[in-house]
Amino acid sequence: MYTKEEIRDHVEILMDPSVNKSFKETGGIKFLDIDKEKMIVNMVIGLEKLEDDYKRSVTRSLAKLIKLDLGFTGIKTDFELNKKSDSILSREIRYIGIASGKGGVGKSTITANLAYALTTLGKKVGIIDADIYGSSIPTILDMEVTPPKGTGNEKIIPFEKDGIELISTEFFLAPDKPLMWRGPMLGKMLNHFFYDVVWDKEIEYILVDLPPGTGDVALDIQGLVPQCKMIIVTTPHKSASHVAVKAGFAAEKLKHELLGVIENMSYFSHAGENIKIFGEGGGKIVSDKLKTKILATIPIGQPKNHISVFAPDEEIGINYLGLANKIIKEY
Ligand SMILES: Nc1ncnc2c1ncn2[C@@H]1O[C@H](COP(=O)(O)OP(=O)(O)OP(=O)(O)O)[C@@H](O)[C@H]1O
Ligand SMILES: [Mg+2]
Repeated sequence: MYTKEEIRDHVEILMDPSVNKSFKETGGIKFLDIDKEKMIVNMVIGLEKLEDDYKRSVTRSLAKLIKLDLGFTGIKTDFELNKKSDSILSREIRYIGIASGKGGVGKSTITANLAYALTTLGKKVGIIDADIYGSSIPTILDMEVTPPKGTGNEKIIPFEKDGIELISTEFFLAPDKPLMWRGPMLGKMLNHFFYDVVWDKEIEYILVDLPPGTGDVALDIQGLVPQCKMIIVTTPHKSASHVAVKAGFAAEKLKHELLGVIENMSYFSHAGENIKIFGEGGGKIVSDKLKTKILATIPIGQPKNHISVFAPDEEIGINYLGLANKIIKEY
């Protein structure tokens, strides 16, 4: 069976008939997933002009490609207007994806702390909580979860805490209800996050907190923001570094440039000694394998006055300032 990436390669060379450009040029593949059980391909396609004739024409060429050429049983396609040109993506915003192979290595904690550190250094920051199913940023930022506000023209106003703007699925859910969205719904949600949020005009950096794992959402981000750069998070342990390398390779394959690696939970400082509770070497293994650098090593610790965010004068807060500083210099 063809993989998502292989299907994407095929679909990318099809044309958006409304502008006579390939979907690669228009960035028109908004979502692509395979229902492996039913052998059905689910897609959301963005067209430059959303007219029935164009939809029919694309539906026909996709059906031929997916069913006849690639041998799938069926295809389900949703269309929407490709909003790339007038979206925030045309502005000079720098996107940084925070990824890891394994779960629980500290992506969300790092995303939040990096956002604060960049803010301390005078940058205006937004966060996209792209961990659709396991969203945790609102909790980490200690935010009250209230329904999102619209603008009347289908745009969403982001939430704000201490000058940092945020969009997260958490705000769209009934409290304590698990998220049951599948396939295209998920793609659409991410789409909204990337195209329909009215960020502050001054936003310079948008941090994207990714779910654990090496594939899916990263692949969608590729369609949404090809220019997004990646940070790979690992712990010092070899098992974590092994999967982190995979995440890094996946990012590279998707042509996201790597900013570098963060080794989190590197050591625990006690009585003047750094104790390596989770082993050592993980960060180095990952950065060597991916031919990139270690951006920061963050020790184990908890903030004094906040659930997850360190103040700029705490030791770990200073680590985060160093990280933010490096990022500003490079990107
Ligand atoms: N340096 C650290 N020292 C101590 N605890 C940490 C550190 N970094 C993260 N943690 C804790 O580890 C847990 C997991 O962190 P976090 O949620 O940021 O990871 P994640 O990679 O985003 O997880 P997921 O894959 O589930 O999204 C949290 O309880 C967090 O407070
Ligand atoms: Mg997380």
